[in-house]
Amino acid sequence: MTLTGKTVLITGANRGLGRALVEEALSRGAERVYAGTRQALNPTDERVTPLVLDLTDAAQINHAAETVDSLDVLINNAGVYGYEDLADRAALERHLAVNLFGPYALTQALLPRLIESQGAIVNVLSLAAVAALPISPAYSISKAAALSLTQSLRATLAGQSVGVHAVLPGPMDTDMVRDLEIPKTSPQSAAAAILDALDKGEEEIFPDPFSQTLADSWNGGAVKALERQNAALLGAAQNQ
Ligand SMILES: NC(=O)c1ccc[n+]([C@@H]2O[C@H](COP(=O)([O-])OP(=O)(O)OC[C@H]3O[C@@H](n4cnc5c(N)ncnc54)[C@H](OP(=O)(O)O)[C@@H]3O)[C@@H](O)[C@H]2O)c1
Repeated sequence: MTLTGKTVLITGANRGLGRALVEEALSRGAERVYAGTRQALNPTDERVTPLVLDLTDAAQINHAAETVDSLDVLINNAGVYGYEDLADRAALERHLAVNLFGPYALTQALLPRLIESQGAIVNVLSLAAVAALPISPAYSISKAAALSLTQSLRATLAGQSVGVHAVLPGPMDTDMVRDLEIPKTSPQSAAAAILDALDKGEEEIFPDPFSQTLADSWNGGAVKALERQNAALLGAAQNQ
């Protein structure tokens, strides 16, 4: 899936990784980039079509689905992160609303366009999806649930030739973790690595040096094998 001549929708496009993905998609020759943002955007590149899109707003998701008449790649990038206590149910609900139910609802709304184009869904998750960060349990739970959603979508859409990809970044130098004094990758280099991996059809994308250390063991490991084994159950059930 190279982006030349393609139509892409990116959520959380105003800053951080989302903005870097918009710039990278344009530099790779995307024909149109729908930039989903909560506040109206004034793009300078005529290939960018702004979309006011708060993922917790069902009406804005419906409006996006009505506006987008063709789509090759949906990048579910927007997300929220916080340091909350596991006892704080409201925090968990806030994280699930944006990091799980947001991409879930947008994907369902745009699925007809992605099936038409035999396109791709790219869900930006986190390494916290596979190993919880106990300082941010609500975030970790939401990303783990979104990884499970990604795996189910992958299996159920394989027959319709829609690729489904999980991005599992380590720390990136954005507002999200501005206060953490740890080595971070630039969002620009992560964006380039994500689109390179999409080109190569990698199902799990490890876009920075920290996450890369997991790539080999993930791709050749027991969890990936089990995912494939479980996906085969779907085919068997459909043939009965
Ligand atoms: N930075 C890291 O270290 C890191 C590591 C692993 C994974 N990630 C993931 O990478 C993705 C991008 O994060 P980032 O680092 O670029 O963070 P960021 O700079 O904090 O940007 C977050 C983006 O999400 C948008 N957003 C938040 N709530 C939203 C909602 N309800 N509806 C629509 N958009 C909403 C924000 O919009 P506003 O500007 O309107 O708030 C902003 O555009 C996220 O999914 C994050 O979990 C980040």
